[in-house]
Amino acid sequence: MQQQSSNTGRAAANGKQPIVNFSGLNHHFGLGDARRQVLYDVHLAMYPSEIAIMTGPSGSGKTSLLVLAGGLRAVQDGSLNVLGREMRGLCAQELVEIRRSIGFIFQFHNLFESLTAIENVQMALDLHSYSTREKRDRAAEMLAKLGLEHRMHYKPSSLSGGQKQRVAVARALVNKPRIILADEPTAALDKESGRIVVNLLQEHARAADAAIILVTHDNRILDVADRIVTLIDGRIVSRVEVGETNLICEFLRKCPVFANQSPSELTEIAQKMAYEKYPSREVIFHQGDPGDKFYLIREGQAEVLIDGPDGLKLVRTLERGEIFGEMSLLKHQPRSATVRAVNQLELYVLGRDDFRAAIDNSVSFRDQLLRTYAGRS
Ligand SMILES: Nc1ncnc2c1ncn2[C@@H]1O[C@H](COP(=O)(O)OP(=O)(O)OP(=O)(O)O)[C@@H](O)[C@H]1O
Ligand SMILES: [Mg+2]
Repeated sequence: MQQQSSNTGRAAANGKQPIVNFSGLNHHFGLGDARRQVLYDVHLAMYPSEIAIMTGPSGSGKTSLLVLAGGLRAVQDGSLNVLGREMRGLCAQELVEIRRSIGFIFQFHNLFESLTAIENVQMALDLHSYSTREKRDRAAEMLAKLGLEHRMHYKPSSLSGGQKQRVAVARALVNKPRIILADEPTAALDKESGRIVVNLLQEHARAADAAIILVTHDNRILDVADRIVTLIDGRIVSRVEVGETNLICEFLRKCPVFANQSPSELTEIAQKMAYEKYPSREVIFHQGDPGDKFYLIREGQAEVLIDGPDGLKLVRTLERGEIFGEMSLLKHQPRSATVRAVNQLELYVLGRDDFRAAIDNSVSFRDQLLRTYAGRS
């Protein structure tokens, strides 16, 4: 059985390779008495064509994390793998090379004041061997996509905050990088321009199989997120895999016993569920085992078998979206049946304590469960 500790684990368990992977990363600023830790034990894997939205209060470490991922600061402690290379210990030249595959949209746009908009965008192409004409055409095309065709020859001092921000977005996208690190890219934009920017980012993620980490406080753009990561005081406190979490909630909601949970209660349960994968014929648990987990079928089928005088008897086949294993947790009794994978089986699993906490959180929920189970063996 393969196990992953959160519902973000499905991609990893299915053999996808992350293109950005923080693992046990710590970071400090300052020296001596002024030395202060700003990132603690960060684990975060980003996969191709994925957009992660990162939120968190001011000072929680969002920019620090992006700056490390972008190779703009040296990794001090822990591991950070970008495009298959360990960043810790790389020399300046190697970091420059990796930065060619990364588009950075800085929080304060960082445009060169002495250059025009198009020259700022073209600069991103200077690291590559395009002809001058090709550079100009690509830069102009990208600026036009961002609605800046009439501002290409303006210097930043003659552009509004939102226009400067769009130039910064054009500069990050023009290279078609495999990774985009965007720090508040829509902060200075109105609704319409913000939408244009996030749509372009989303299009790019799909077309270039790129991973995008997007720091934002802008709730209007949450819909583009494949994942929402929250950082508080330098720690990742929550990571919601949006697609998988929605699916789990949908499955749970369809089960009569969970039907009355609120969306936020269901989301909280979904986030605590770990991913497990079993090969065909493997037993999930045996009749008589102590009950320690609750299960939801993500993919595949499972058979419920009861040990009788004539051996194991099939009593039911469970399908995608169905739950099992809850009864022994509720009744504090051993498993009343054996459950086995019919084919390759993907499950989401909730530990006994989290399951009990979910039930204890809602008295009506517990009543409903008990009513549902009166009548079941
Ligand atoms: N160069 C630096 N030297 C010392 N401390 C720093 C430096 N850069 C950031 N910090 C500190 O690290 C912590 C995290 O800062 P960071 O800029 O990563 O936060 P943030 O989440 O991006 O905040 P905001 O939402 O305000 O942009 C803060 O306490 C900040 O003061
Ligand atoms: Mg910041």
